[in-house]
Amino acid sequence: MKLYRLLIGRLKNFTYIIADEKTKEAFVIDPTDSKKVLDVIEKEKLILKLIINTHSHFDHIKGNEELVKVAKAKIVAHENSKINCDIKVKDGDILKVGNIEIKIIHTPGHTNDSICLLIDDMLFTGDTIFVKSFGRTDLPTGSFNDLLNSIKKLEKLDDNIKIFPGHDYGDKDFSTLREEKTFNPIFNYGSKK
Ligand SMILES: [Fe+2]
Repeated sequence: MKLYRLLIGRLKNFTYIIADEKTKEAFVIDPTDSKKVLDVIEKEKLILKLIINTHSHFDHIKGNEELVKVAKAKIVAHENSKINCDIKVKDGDILKVGNIEIKIIHTPGHTNDSICLLIDDMLFTGDTIFVKSFGRTDLPTGSFNDLLNSIKKLEKLDDNIKIFPGHDYGDKDFSTLREEKTFNPIFNYGSKK
């Protein structure tokens, strides 16, 4: 398995491309810029199968349409999502691309269609959590209470899991669940130190 990461634009979006090196099949998480994704796909001779959106905010889905047109990939989003998609997923679903398994964890809070993707020991968190911070919950379909419940779900995962956020908003570009449990205020919300 190979991970490619693109840092794009003023909002510092992270777009991730993950490929099965044997079959060359690949998927993209939150394509902000279709051209930059296609550059990687072409250069690495990958076959783009899925476009997975961690939630439906504009900066995370901007590249969808063009990628569908050019690469004929299928769009995946949570069943609460209002975006145009081919595959609707819910909590616990598992998708497969090549030999890579992608587990869907529904994590409402930032939006009600927010999902995290667990792939081996990597968790792609969209705007649910960033390095040492978390996504705002005051936008439409956002809920701080839902976010707290979603964090309880993530807390149960292994501490060694690596966290790959949807934006480069922290002091480094990825971390571990152990670090987030220690330093991220949302994991310690309401607890007395
Ligand atoms: Fe967002």
